[in-house]
Amino acid sequence: VITKIKARQILDSRGIPTVEVDLYTNKGMFRASAPSGDSTGMNEAVDLRDGDKGTYLGNGVIKAVKNINEKISEALIGMDTTLQSQIDQAMIDLDKTERKGELGANAMLAVSIAACKAGAAEKEVPLYKHIAELSGKTNLSLPVPAFTVISGGKHAGNNLAIQEIMILPIGASKFEEALQMGSETYHHLKAVITEKYGPHGCNVGEDGGLAPNISRQDFYSYDAISSIVKEAIGRTGYNEKIKIAIDVAATDFCIGTKYDLDFKSPNKSGQNFKSGEDMIKMYKELCNDYSIVSIEDPFDREDWDHVKNFSGLGICQVVGDDLLMSNPKRIERAIRESTCNALLLKVNRIGTVTEAIEVVKQAKDAHWGVVTSHRCGETEDSFIADFSVGLATGQIKAGAPCRGERLAKYNQEDLKLMVQSFLQLLRIEEELGDQAVYAGEDWRLS
Ligand code: PGA
Ligand code: ZN
Repeated sequence: VITKIKARQILDSRGIPTVEVDLYTNKGMFRASAPSGDSTGMNEAVDLRDGDKGTYLGNGVIKAVKNINEKISEALIGMDTTLQSQIDQAMIDLDKTERKGELGANAMLAVSIAACKAGAAEKEVPLYKHIAELSGKTNLSLPVPAFTVISGGKHAGNNLAIQEIMILPIGASKFEEALQMGSETYHHLKAVITEKYGPHGCNVGEDGGLAPNISRQDFYSYDAISSIVKEAIGRTGYNEKIKIAIDVAATDFCIGTKYDLDFKSPNKSGQNFKSGEDMIKMYKELCNDYSIVSIEDPFDREDWDHVKNFSGLGICQVVGDDLLMSNPKRIERAIRESTCNALLLKVNRIGTVTEAIEVVKQAKDAHWGVVTSHRCGETEDSFIADFSVGLATGQIKAGAPCRGERLAKYNQEDLKLMVQSFLQLLRIEEELGDQAVYAGEDWRLS
């Protein structure tokens, strides 16, 4: 049972405060922390931030920490950590608001994850196995990693509009090999970018993706960037074993009904606005020319019609991130209206482990793909790695195959941040030995 809960304010990979929790049971101490992202919407759980502009520019989480140390502790002490849904429900009841704004989704999620780790220890099983049992599933699977190799959008200071270009080593035989393929491609890509844009092209964005400043003329078509990645994959010799995916995060550059691919330029003329139809045409060409197999948020989060029209073409996986906000009601609508065919699952957009398990089931029941995802503001917590294995989501997106974040030294002794979830998968694969199954070609319906 839970004997003590102690929270503190730490910093995430962007240097922005977040919540860390130490949850104690008779089995020891279990630590967890909440990530946070750049994109936020009206239908998702909200982080509680202090709003005092004089402290951490308003981003402090002292109130959320206090909520854990006082209200949540009082409600949860004495509870059995193997009963995850009861723990999560107790916090939901205490919060009473639809979006978890009273206690803070950051407070609730950190406690929920810490309780989940404690529950696994109580049962003396690995975390991924405990998560599988909580969901009633039995087939564990190591996900195909979506490594972010190029960053743009809100995640980088270059002028690229799309937020992420990712590589998926679908043709690897196991996760360990996928990691190697990701790393090698990343390093070849560095060389390709250095040749084309100079060494400063290899500066990185928030997720560790390289962030070259694409020249104006190249920039208007996504082509330029995809061709660089294709060239890097070619140099590795892996060719068709590695596929390309993109996260457009188009909500960030939708102006009315148009899309502004030049949204970060200070001198923009407005001449390069694209219509939804232009965007569909561009995506079709990309899928055709560059083996792009998955496109996330190709349109604004309220532009359901264009997402549906594009998805209906059936040419690639269409993932809803900002579109769905990991919200069960929006997922339900998208399933009913056949708007997209995959869920990007961000546990902090929903706020508890139990609810995250439920939305994964909802998506899988509809035969959708599921991408377990990090946030751009990460901590050293590798919970999502176990989550993706336990629920056999088939895909995980957790940044570039590099970047041990130095901030971890301030938070705790661990040196790995973004890459942490990927390394955790490596360890899980090792632990499972012969039983390990890599999602590989089954990445969409693992
Ligand atoms: P965020 O972005 O964490 O900054 O919201 C991640 C994504 O869009 O997938
Ligand atoms: Zn996204």
